Parts: sequence; structure tokens; C-alpha cells
Amino acid sequence: MSATYDRRILSGMRPTGMLHLGHYHGVLKNWLMLQHEYDCFFFVADWHALTTEYAAPEIIADSAYEMVVDWLAVGINPGEATLFVQSRIPEHAELCLLLSMMTPLGWLERVPTYKDQQEKLAEKDLSTYGFLGYPLLQAADILIYKAGQVPVGDDQVPHVELAREVARRFNHLYGREPGFQDKAEAAARKMGKKAAKLYFDLRKRYQEQGDAEALATARAFLESQHNIALSDHERLLGYLEGSGRTILPEPEALLAPEARMPGLNGEKMSKSYGNTIGLREAPESITQKLRTMPTDPARVRRQDPGEPEKCPVWKFHQVYSSAEVQSWVQVGCRGAGIGCLDCKQPVIDAVLAELAPIRERALDLERDTDAVRAIIADGCEAARDVARETMDEVREAMGLVYR
Ligand code: TRP
Ligand code: SF4
Repeated sequence: MSATYDRRILSGMRPTGMLHLGHYHGVLKNWLMLQHEYDCFFFVADWHALTTEYAAPEIIADSAYEMVVDWLAVGINPGEATLFVQSRIPEHAELCLLLSMMTPLGWLERVPTYKDQQEKLAEKDLSTYGFLGYPLLQAADILIYKAGQVPVGDDQVPHVELAREVARRFNHLYGREPGFQDKAEAAARKMGKKAAKLYFDLRKRYQEQGDAEALATARAFLESQHNIALSDHERLLGYLEGSGRTILPEPEALLAPEARMPGLNGEKMSKSYGNTIGLREAPESITQKLRTMPTDPARVRRQDPGEPEKCPVWKFHQVYSSAEVQSWVQVGCRGAGIGCLDCKQPVIDAVLAELAPIRERALDLERDTDAVRAIIADGCEAARDVARETMDEVREAMGLVYR
């Protein structure tokens, strides 16, 4: 197997209700781009949803399935990306348990989302072991696929950071096999004389002179070596960096391009603000919501001038309208030349046009439940193969192989 960690992407989404335009613009459009360029694993984080919804878990099973329908409807392609459900891969739980043995409690307590979410969701009792362990489960999700890159929003960056720390500690504790140096040097020679020399030179430059460029070059060079065994790749990486074998590579957060989809009231679109437009919402309902959404409060009557900067509709124009339409809005609003309903019409048209094909595909998929189930089953199987392979290595490294 060749090592392609940098090319592997993993991301998950919690199933807690129907997806809306905020998910589409904030996350899914990014996934659509990534799926062509990377080896993508996208999964339904149903266990993560349970950490907050444990008292009423019904919503999870329903939304898990519907969420995959939405992914497919927007164009996530199961031929390009592996789509699966977290709880179908019990190896995530096993890795999480093993990592929990060596994860200091303080690392989890100081993750910012821990206290933030407890305060925000005060109606739920989140003083649970599972909720404290949320980021560690996320670390297991990431590390079990050896994903090099994790597309997340900025609130999730500390979780990826925790995954890095846990991986580093794991490799430090369990990557030190007997005869490591000999094995690493033998692995280098297996690449051939020229390649081995290049590797040793770069390693020396990094270790003796702290040359970061040499390190990056050597890493890229190892990535490009497709004929070395996985275990040798891990040794070469670890030997290069001056640690033991890199069994669990450290992932990096891949920040999504900033896309703040406004909600109907101008706040960020989010289910908890009740300001969403669903991906599968009926056109009549969408039209109604947009027609009645608030505008600049200073425009009480038609002849009052308004200010787009104070109006949620303007935020929609910034997402959906051409420069030409945008200047029509600015001039028309400030000079009271257009009414608010006139102003909203291009937005209504654009949102409906964007969602029509998505809704149509979703309706088709809803009728073809067998096909959707088959896609999920195939994805789970493919994901589980990778997860099993990692767990074999993890157990071996920790001495949990009984013969
Ligand atoms: N915590 C993420 C969220 O709330 C969901 C998630 C779970 C995730 N496991 C993950 C994201 C692994 C990226 C990688 O959005
Ligand atoms: Fe908002 Fe448009 Fe009305 Fe101005 S004309 S207040 S931008 S809806």
C-alpha cells in the first residue's frame, strides 16, 4: 500500500435535522470541490450527535439517512468519495477507548467547545463522560483513517489540534520498537541507492541544521515513493523527524473558504435561530419566507429611503446577485426607487433556481431507498477495511496481540 495521507480528507457532520442553505454554502460546496481532488471520506457522525441528544435519540436515525440523501442530492458522488456512518464502524470506539488511556484529562477539559457548549445548551445536562470525550472521539475518527487534512469550520480547529497532540503522544509512546534505527535504515535502502542517499542527506540537514525546507522536501519525497510498505513508510517518517514510527500521522485542519450564509433575519443561518431555508423545502414555502423576511426597519413606507447595509436582504444579494443587480439594489433602495418586494424578487428567483435541481434529485432518491442504502453499505464496507487495518497496527504497537 502506498502512503497518501496528505491526499486523504476526512470530515463528518452530525445528523440533527434537515440540512439547509447554511450547510450547502458553508460545508457541502467545499466538499464538492474537494471530492475531485482528494481521497475523501465523509461520514455521518451519529455518535457525536448522541453526546448532546442522548435523551431523545429518535431524531438521529431519521436525519442520518436523510442527510446522506441531501449529500447525494447536492452532488456528492459516491464514485469519488466514501460515504459512511460512524456507528457502523465500531473500530472508532475501540480506538477512542485505547486513546483515552493516554489522554490527560486536562487536554479535554481545556478544549474551548467543552465549556462553551455546556453554557449554550444549558437546557441539556452535558456534564457527562461522553460529552467531555467528544473531541477524543473526533480524534479517533480522524486518526483511524490516517487523514492528512480535515476540512472544518473555525470552531473545530481546537479539535483537530487535540487530534494532533494525541497522535504525537501515541507515536511517542508506542512507536518505539526494538531495533528501530536498523529497521529505518534498512527501509531507506529498500528505496534504492539514489533515493536512500537523498533521504539521508535531507534527514541530516533537518536534524543537524534544523532545516525546515529539508524536512518538507523529505516528507514530500516519501509521499511520492509508492513502492514502500506502510510500516516502512512510518519508520522512515519517524526516523526523519527524530521520533519513533509514525503510526498515526498528525492531521491538519483545512479551513473552509469563508462563507457566511445569512439567515432570514440576517444572523448566521442556523437551526437554533429558526432562520433557515431547507434544501428540500417546497418553493411556495421558500417564496413565502423570503417575501416576509425583515428589511431595513427604517423603510416603513414605500417612499422612505433605505440602507442596504442595515438590511438582511442585502446579505442575500451579496451571495446571489451580479454586480449589476447589486448596484440596482443600492441605488433603488437609497433613493426609494424600488420597493422591498421588487428588491427581493431576484433573490427569490436565484434561491429557487439553485434549489430546484437539488430538490428534484432528493425527491428521486427518496423514492429509491434501496439505492441509497446500498451506497451507504458500500461506503461503510470500504471505510471499515481501512479502519480495521489501522486497528491491527494500533493493537500490535500497544502489545495487544495475543498468540
Ligand atoms: N465535530 C464535528 C462538528 O460538529 C463533526 C465531526 C465529528 C467531525 N467527527 C469529525 C468533523 C471528524 C471532522 C472530522 O461539526
Ligand atoms: Fe432591503 Fe432591498 Fe428593501 Fe432596501 S429595498 S430595505 S435592500 S429589501
